[in-house]
This record gives sequence, C-alpha cells and structure tokens, in this order.
Amino acid sequence: MNVRITGTGSALPEKILTNADIERLVDTSDEWITTRTGIKERRIAAAGEYTSTFAAEAARRALTMAGTHPEELDFIIIGTVTPDFPFPSTACLVQDLLGATNATAFDLSAACSGFLYGLSIAEKYLRAGAAQKILVIGAEVLSRIVDWQDRNTCVLFGDGAGAIVLEASESGHSLLTTHTFSNGSFWNLLYQPACGNRNTADDSRTIDERLFYLKMEGNEVFKHAVRGMEEAAIKALDANGLAPEDISLMIPHQANRRIIDATAKRLGLGPERLFTNLHRYGNTSSASIPIALDEANRQGVLRSDSTLLLVAFGGGLTYASALVKW
Ligand code: UT7
Repeated sequence: MNVRITGTGSALPEKILTNADIERLVDTSDEWITTRTGIKERRIAAAGEYTSTFAAEAARRALTMAGTHPEELDFIIIGTVTPDFPFPSTACLVQDLLGATNATAFDLSAACSGFLYGLSIAEKYLRAGAAQKILVIGAEVLSRIVDWQDRNTCVLFGDGAGAIVLEASESGHSLLTTHTFSNGSFWNLLYQPACGNRNTADDSRTIDERLFYLKMEGNEVFKHAVRGMEEAAIKALDANGLAPEDISLMIPHQANRRIIDATAKRLGLGPERLFTNLHRYGNTSSASIPIALDEANRQGVLRSDSTLLLVAFGGGLTYASALVKW
C-alpha cells in the first residue's frame, strides 16, 4: 500500500518576540542567543489563541492543498505537549473546529518527536488498510509553559502548528519509512513537573518552585540530541539501502542551530542540504518539522524525486526519523 503526503499546511501567531525584546525580560543578549542557538525571533500566541486554533488553521491549509474534505478523514492525530486541556484531547477540539465528523481523534505525547511519532502511527493504519486519509499535526503553545524568569529556557521556544494529510493513494509524495525510539532513563532532563498528578496545585511547593513551567538540563539534552538524531537518521538510511549522499534535503527538528550542524556534520551533509527556519520561529517542539516541511514545500524548495530526511529529538527522551520521496 502506497502511503503519500498529499497536502501540507502551517499556522503561526502574528506576534513576534525578538531577542531584543527578551533582553528586556531576563539577563541575556542577542549575541548570546544568536551564537548559542541561531534563534533571532519567535512567534507568541495572543489571548484567545490556543494549540487547537493553530492546529485547525494548519489543518485547513493542508486539507485545501490535498483537495480533501474534513468529512473524508479517518483519523486526526496531534503530537503536542501543550494541549488546550489535559483532557479532552486537542485532536477532539480540532475535529469539532474542522467538522471532521467521521474521524477518530487523539493526541500523543512524545515532545519534539510528536509529529514523527504521529506520522509513524498513521503510516501503520494506512499500510494495514485500516484507514484511507489521516491528518497528522504537530501543534504547540509553549509560551504558556515557559518560565519567563528562566534565561536558560525562555529564549528557546515559540508557538505554532504544522499539519499534513497522509493518504493511501497513487498520487502525492511517497512516505518510505518511519522509525521511532525512546529512552525513558533520562525522562527528567526535560519535563514539566506540574500539571500531572505528582505535583498538584494544592501543594504550595508547586507554586513556590514554579513547577508548572518547563525544566531542562540543556547541556545534557544537547549531547543526547546529536547522538539520537544521528542514530535515527542512520536507521532510516539503512532501512532503505541509502547512504547520506542520497539525501537531497534534511529537515531536522529546529531546536538549536548547533545541534543541527553537529548532526549534519556526523552524517556528512553540507549546509546546502539542510532546511532551517529556527532563526524566525525558535523551537516549536512537535510543530517544528511540519512547519518547516510546509515552508519548504510552498517555497518550491522540494524538487520532484528528491529524497527528504526528517529527523527529530525531544523530551522522554524520544527520537524519530522518516524518509520521504518527494
Ligand atoms: O527540543 C529538544 C530539546 N531541547 C534541546 O534540544 C535544547 C538542547 N540544549 C541547548 O540547545 C543548549 O544546551 C542551550 C542553548 C540550552 C544552552 O547552551 P549551552 O552552550 O549548552 O550553554 P550552557 O547551558 O552550558 O550555559 C553556558 C553559560 C552558563 O553560564 P556559566 O555557568 O558558564 O557562567 C549559563 O548560565 O551560559 C549561561 N546562559 C546564558 N547566558 C546568557 C544560559 N542561558 C543564557 C542566556 N543568556 N539566555
């Protein structure tokens, strides 16, 4: 069964927060943020904008490109760590916003690898003949779980959503393989301590220690990220009998320019074979790859017959890869 990408879409907040704006919030500098991360600005959701609203907008754009009506969708899968609510799923809210009345909708939690995990699940449903059309979305409003007093993390993240329509079809861009990995031994390197049932709102520690906000051991995550992305990329290449020189373009998770460059160097990929937009959006977690894929698609960067490597890394720890013949 051929599994194909027939539409891409993305949606971003209007509001831009520059490095100069962050200099006014915490003890940092444009120079530090630029040289250590490559990020220049990020988008921030306004009042009344939520993960679900960005997800639905990205989805509408992907559905329009695919020529697919929402009622044709069998599944809506959203990778997110910033759902509108712990429950119901943001995917159910998006189902309602789109009028996708025939879909089964659910969220999955794999942090920055969430979109590729969703792609992998969707691929299995389609190859098994259990679905014909699936919407896979990565969507986040990280600005509401970022601690704006913590310079170690607040400079990194942004909001937005990206979506694709995946179909069992003879036309479109072929999804060749997906691979997913987890290493739960390092779960505490990147996490949100409160919002689950360990650190509850009625415990004063939760507020005093600012446990509702994301915590990260950036340095440690960095090392695992480079190793994990390389491993996931090599798995994808091996499974398809390909070598790094066969890759036309790598679209990596947009966390840090130095992580992307180090991964590319290990794989022997030059800068001309990397797609990056993190200078404009920062790290949008699960949304980063589908936003970048949509931008590359709409900018005409993706040539017919090119081989795309998508590779992600995130909290969990999780990592994942996908190969696409465009
Ligand atoms: O999405 C997937 C998960 N996330 C990631 O992949 C992020 C992975 N990690 C990173 O991207 C990097 O580790 C960071 C960008 C978070 C940090 O860069 P680093 O080069 O690893 O810096 P560091 O944490 O080792 O900190 C170096 C110094 C420290 O000062 P001292 O202790 O050397 O005096 C920090 O306090 O930089 C300081 N620092 C800052 N200085 C100015 C940390 N954040 C800032 C800041 N502005 N915003």
